[in-house]
Order: sequence, then structure tokens, then C-alpha cells
Amino acid sequence: MSQAKKIETIGILTSGGDAPGMNGVIRSVTRTAINYGIRVMGIRRGYHGLWRGDVTELDARSVSDKSRVGGTFLMTARSKTFVTPEGLQQACKMTQVFGMDALVTVGGDGTMRGACELAKLELPIIHIPATIDNDVGCTEYTIGFDSALNTAISCVDKLRDTASSHERCSVIEVMGREAGYLALHVGIATGAEIILIPEQPFDRDKDIIGKILSARNRGKHHYIVVVAEGAARGEEIAKYIESNTGTEARATVLGYLQRGGSPTYQDRYLASMFGIQTVKALMENRVNRVVVYKQGEVTDLDLFEGLEIKKRISPEDMKKASMLSI
Ligand code: F6P
Repeated sequence: MSQAKKIETIGILTSGGDAPGMNGVIRSVTRTAINYGIRVMGIRRGYHGLWRGDVTELDARSVSDKSRVGGTFLMTARSKTFVTPEGLQQACKMTQVFGMDALVTVGGDGTMRGACELAKLELPIIHIPATIDNDVGCTEYTIGFDSALNTAISCVDKLRDTASSHERCSVIEVMGREAGYLALHVGIATGAEIILIPEQPFDRDKDIIGKILSARNRGKHHYIVVVAEGAARGEEIAKYIESNTGTEARATVLGYLQRGGSPTYQDRYLASMFGIQTVKALMENRVNRVVVYKQGEVTDLDLFEGLEIKKRISPEDMKKASMLSI
């Protein structure tokens, strides 16, 4: 491999939906880089901030006390200008203006796609998957997923208290965009009677009404239904249940509650390890990489190959959930 230019300064940005643990990623990248004598430029407001040159140098003190704080102190933004060819060129130009030898992007699949476009313009990239959706195909885990899970689980447990008191059906709509990982894992952890995800088409009468009536005939008096936002609207499911079973049904949309809060141990720990792996790759002249979690290990893959890797929830996982909710 030809000797690449020595990395002396890197940029880091967070983009897309924020996720608990993003601050821990920024902290880990910054402090690890400083240990290797690398300067770190924090880019505010995601790709839009890069396009505008909204940059501030980070030092060890800039990232103090950040591991426990949700959100991203560099802020994030959805950018329409960035995705145009002119926007991409402008973004690359800004990295040169600030002397960035490489860019670390932190976010979900949309952020990863933007990172690939910049890599095609010869800007060295390391991407760190961070989204509560856990829907980035090349990694088993994305920063933020565990924290969102635990927030949602705590909410569902509370809703079960009132559902049981009123002998009602509580329908909880969770986030996840077009993926059902949040819904599946929350449903399993809370013993939901029904879990609806985009990956598994369902029949309202057979898979919802039938299951509620069977559960009632088995002696159940209240029911939990977890719905991924990509599968259906919780409010509609609740109305359908109430009008077809006579059981009162109430919908709750957890929404942005799942995006906030102090990161769990898992997100704090993996944020730290993902950041260290990022700087390790840069020091070993491995660029255009995506940091991933696979079979218990933190490693990194080729960015472009990683973007093409898909993953799907298996029918077996859904069967396990349904088996436990009898
Ligand atoms: O991608 C994370 C996520 O929270 C999704 O689960 C959700 O559908 C989306 O972001 C909401 O996007 P926004 O914050 O732009 O409304």
C-alpha cells in the first residue's frame, strides 16, 4: 500500500437523528486522537455545518463529562444543500480550508451514504454507525439502540400497570423508521402479546383480533401490542382492536422520548470502543472504513462494501417472540 499522507488533523460531525452515545463517540475519538498527537475539529450541525464551515477545535476539556449526556453537543441537522454535487464539492473544500486530513462521520444509514459520496471525492472517511434504529446492515449494533430500548421498555412497563388495572389493551408505537428492531426487542423484553414490524406483513383479523380473542379465552385480561412506526399507526390499531373485540384500547406514541436520556452502560462502553477503533484505523492508514460490531468484537470494514451489506429480522426471531407471549 502506498504511504498515505500522515493524518495530522481530523474533522468529526454528527448527522441524522441524534442517538444517546453520540457524545461518548465524540469524546472517545477526540481523546484518543489527542493521545496520538492528532488535532480534532468539531463540525457543528452535521453536513450542513460542514458545508458552511461551522467548525470549532476540540480539546480534552471540550469533551469533559459528555459520556453520560444524551444527544450531540455538536448538534445535527438534515441538509438539502449538501447532497447536491455542488454541496459535496463545497463540503470537501471546507475540509481543506480547515486542514482536515480525514473526516469522521457519526450517524445512521443516511449519514453513511453521504460519507460514501465524500469518499468518492477523495476525502478520507471513517464512519461510525449511530442511530437508535439499529438498521445499518453491516453492523450488529449501532450506538444508541440499547438506550432507546431501555427507555421504551420502562415506558411499556408503566403502561402495563394501567392496562392491567383497567383490563385494557395498550398499543405502543415505537420508532425505527423502516425497521422493526426496536419493536421486536421491546416486545420480547416486555412480553407483548403482539409485535407488528415492517419486515413481517400481518393480517389485522388473524394476527391481531384473533390473537387478542385467543389470549382473552386463555384468561388474559389486559394486552400489550408493540407497533413499529414503519408497520402501522398505533392509534389506528387501537381503534380496530376496540371496535372488533369490545376491549377498550388506548394508543401511546413514544416518539422522541426514545431519542433522549442518559446513555446506558452498553452505549457508553461501545461509544468509547468505536472511537478508539476509529483512530486506530486512521493511525494504521486504513481509511474509507466503517466501524462495526460483529460477534462481540469492534472492528472495521471497507466503507463501500459495508454500505451494500443488508440485514433483516429473521422469521425465527418473530416465532420466538410469539411463543413466549402465550
Ligand atoms: O432515525 C432515527 C429516527 O428517530 C427514526 O426512528 C425516526 O423515524 C426518525 O429518526 C425521525 O426523524 P426526525 O428526527 O427528522 O423527525
